[in-house]
Formats: sequence, structure tokens, C-alpha cells
Amino acid sequence: MTAARDNILEVHHVTRNFGKFQALSDVSLTVRTGRMCALIGPNGAGKTTFYNVVSGRYRPSAGKVFFKGKEVSGLPSHRLVSMGLLRSFQITNIFPALTVLENVLVPLLVHHGMSFSCLQSIRKRRDLADEAVQILERVGLEGVADHVVSTLAYGDKRLIEIAIVLARRPSMVLLDEPTAGMNPEETDRMIHLIQDLSEHSDTTFFITEHDMKVVFSVAEKIFVLNQGTLLAEGTPEEIRNNPDVKRAYLGGSLDAPGQ
Ligand SMILES: Nc1ncnc2c1ncn2[C@@H]1O[C@H](COP(=O)(O)OP(=O)(O)OP(=O)(O)O)[C@@H](O)[C@H]1O
Ligand SMILES: [Mg+2]
Repeated sequence: MTAARDNILEVHHVTRNFGKFQALSDVSLTVRTGRMCALIGPNGAGKTTFYNVVSGRYRPSAGKVFFKGKEVSGLPSHRLVSMGLLRSFQITNIFPALTVLENVLVPLLVHHGMSFSCLQSIRKRRDLADEAVQILERVGLEGVADHVVSTLAYGDKRLIEIAIVLARRPSMVLLDEPTAGMNPEETDRMIHLIQDLSEHSDTTFFITEHDMKVVFSVAEKIFVLNQGTLLAEGTPEEIRNNPDVKRAYLGGSLDAPGQ
């Protein structure tokens, strides 16, 4: 089994067991480079487990994962990060006592192979500071660059997580419920940012999300997990009209407000 070059991610027949319980059963899917995808499904469907397997946190019990054409099944997360596959939310690395700028300088240091202890002297390195400011501008946080993170609003902290991920120049980013816990204004800001990054950068985004308004507005392709199996895949329109998907959601939240 090999992977095609224009597919950034290929998952072949992945199963993940926890004891006798099968959280993922024979899941296969493909994400084309640059194509923004979403993974949806009811609570407990296996979405986070899927990310855990793809991002190297869990080994698949069976099956294979290919990233940029290379088999990466079972590789640890740090190896995948260095290959350009990053995951945000749930493994956040924010330092609340540091400023917003410093929080972005830390992953930049790592990216450029420098040690964390260089942080003080690195503030004097114009090139790195400029790079950090550019990233902050990208996510709209340049105005709070010198603020200590713990003083910021929740929505801004989530944006810092995106900035930290971007500092590693990722090829692919997995976002597990990026708008969870956000108010409507923060949600809109996050959606627009993800859309903008997806359209104007080389990074491929793959999100899980409960908010169907978000999913249908940002994803070009949607995969639906149900009880650990892939129930459907298709465009937002195809998924919205899929009777199996409607059944899985029991007539619930598929028709989100504004759709
Ligand atoms: N480490 C683990 N050990 C045992 N069972 C687990 C483990 N991780 C997940 N599970 C189980 O696997 C199933 C899928 O969980 P998972 O967190 O992947 O679902 P999810 O689709 O992300 O749900 P949600 O929408 O609530 O975030 C659940 O029944 C969960 O209890
Ligand atoms: Mg989850």
C-alpha cells in the first residue's frame, strides 16, 4: 500500500482498541493537500481518538497512517511535529506568566533549533522578534503583544494557541473543537481566521467541531464518524442531505441556525 503525492494525509483501515472496546473501527480517509476538511460525529464517535492516532499520541491497533506520502503509523508526536503535522487544543503549551510575544518566541526558538534558555537574549534578535510580530499580526493579536497572557480574554488565549502552532510553519494542523467555549463573537473571529489561513497559506487544516454552522461554512469536505466507523464523506451539501447522517444525529443539530 502506498500513498499518493497530492494527498497530505492518508489513513488506511485504522482501528484503535481500548481493551475490548473499539473506539475506531477500520477507518480509511484521505485529505488532499490544501483542502480544508472537517471531522464530525456525535459525542463519543471517536473524533479525538482519531486525532490522537493521526498525531502520534496513540498507536493504531491496526491500519496505517501516511503523512506527505510517508508512513508515520505509531511515530511519536514530536517526530510528526518536526515533519510538519501539528495538533492544537488539548495539548496546549501556553505560558500564562509570559507575554503574548514571548509565547510565540518560544516555539520560534525551537523551530530555529535554539534552546529555551536563550529567551532573554533572543528578545534582542530583531529577525526573530519581527517574525513573531508577523505571526501575531496574522492572528490579529499584535495590539496585545506585550500583555501578559494570563490577563487576556479566553478568545485571545485560543488565538495564541493558533499563533504558537503557526510559529512551527506547519504543513497540516489538526484543530480539535477550535471554538469550544467561545462566545458568538469569538467564534466568528476564529472561523474567519481559520478560513483566511486556509486560503492564504500553505497549511492544510483539518478540524473537528460540534457547531454545524462552523463546519458547513468552513469545510470543503466533511467526514462523519459514528460509533468509531466512518459513516459518510462528502461536500457540506452532500453531508447535509445524507439520510444516514441525519439518522446518526437523530434530527438534532444538523440544521444549524443560519443554514
Ligand atoms: N484513553 C481511553 N481509554 C478508554 N476509552 C477511551 C479512551 N479515549 C477515548 N475512549 C473512548 O473512546 C470513545 C471515543 O472517544 P472520543 O473522545 O474519541 O470521542 P469524540 O468523538 O472526540 O467525542 P466528543 O465529541 O465528546 O469529544 C468514547 O467512548 C471514549 O470513552
Ligand atoms: Mg473529542
